[in-house]
Amino acid sequence: MIVGTVRELKSEEYRVGITPEGAHALVEDGNVVLVERGAGEGAGCSDLAYAAAGAELVADAHDVWARADLIVKVKEPQRAEYASIRDEQTLFTYLHLAALPELTQILIDSKVTAIGYETVQLPDGSLPLLVPMSQIAGRMAAEIGSQYLRKPGPGRGKLISGLPGAAAAHVVVLGAGTVAENAIQVAVGLGARVTVFDTRLDKLRRVQELWPGRTTALMSSPLAIAQALRDADILIGAVLVPGASAPKLVTRDMVRGMGPGAVIVDVAIDQGGAVETSRMTTHDNPVYVEEGVVHYCVANMPGAVPVTSTAALTAATLPYVRRLAALGPRDALLADPALASGVLVSEGKVIHAALAHSLGMPVSTLAEALPN
Ligand SMILES: NC(=O)c1ccc[n+]([C@@H]2O[C@H](COP(=O)([O-])OP(=O)(O)OC[C@H]3O[C@@H](n4cnc5c(N)ncnc54)[C@H](O)[C@@H]3O)[C@@H](O)[C@H]2O)c1
Repeated sequence: MIVGTVRELKSEEYRVGITPEGAHALVEDGNVVLVERGAGEGAGCSDLAYAAAGAELVADAHDVWARADLIVKVKEPQRAEYASIRDEQTLFTYLHLAALPELTQILIDSKVTAIGYETVQLPDGSLPLLVPMSQIAGRMAAEIGSQYLRKPGPGRGKLISGLPGAAAAHVVVLGAGTVAENAIQVAVGLGARVTVFDTRLDKLRRVQELWPGRTTALMSSPLAIAQALRDADILIGAVLVPGASAPKLVTRDMVRGMGPGAVIVDVAIDQGGAVETSRMTTHDNPVYVEEGVVHYCVANMPGAVPVTSTAALTAATLPYVRRLAALGPRDALLADPALASGVLVSEGKVIHAALAHSLGMPVSTLAEALPN
């Protein structure tokens, strides 16, 4: 099969769909791998490394789109790419189509098989191609909280670890899922005192088992959160209610109550944020101060570490890409329910029920629209 990857056109996106190591594995499997020249530059993947891995470098992205049976990307195609999408092609990338009706229609009209990373789901309900990005965001969240707590800047000027004679910082984490666990790992590693809230006792139990004696794990309630925040230095928003906006667990009053120079890292901002005073920021201008408290609300945190996030993404996607290339999309989808659950659009039909529902379109089964 011919597998291709192109330079990402979305602004602030430096990741690339396949690393040279991934390209090498695909070439070893007997595939042809096409890489647009310079596609991996921002992620530390040089043209030289791709060439050494056996990939073919292609000057023009159009040629990659024209020749590849399988396009592996990071983000959804941008307007300049719409005309390049063609039938009998498989597209494997983050798509988040519910917010993109125009692109959805183009994918329907072009009859591609579009598989969204975000909807590939294992039988236990987990989302293996979203997990690496949550892990990165969680680890960054604790680091960023620690950084903005220091001077110069509006932070209160506290060392997260404390030391003999000076108290460690108190980090409050809302949620005990993937982002939260990774944030706690780094916060505990840096020596912070951590309080975590979730609505699920099993998640709280797991946190306590992972870091016995280093965390206080509490059932989420407005009163308990308000109490913990009175003495918090860093608040990390890491809640998720699948398919819904993030619950607003922290009111403006609670933010004010944290006191000047505290720091909020609202990772859940991509779902609207868990804090009343949160509003989305970008890597160019990541923080603002409201009620005396520093707010960091960047929706694509992993974008700041494209080398790490590209490697982590390829590690997660490569087994699926190899299977798609080895078996062809039809047999790969028939053989792997996790991959099949990721199909959003195929052969001109919307396959994913939630997507069809949110766009008011009819839904078809994959059996009715299997690619050839
Ligand atoms: N900003 C970024 O760059 C970035 C990157 C990755 C993920 N995210 C976002 O971070 C959020 C968390 O992702 P995740 O992968 O950790 O999700 P997850 O499903 O693993 O964890 C979410 C947790 O929130 C808990 N929760 C739900 N309602 C709650 C409530 N009222 N009180 C306390 N806990 C509650 C759930 O029980 C669950 O344990 C999501 O919105 C995700 O999209 C943002």
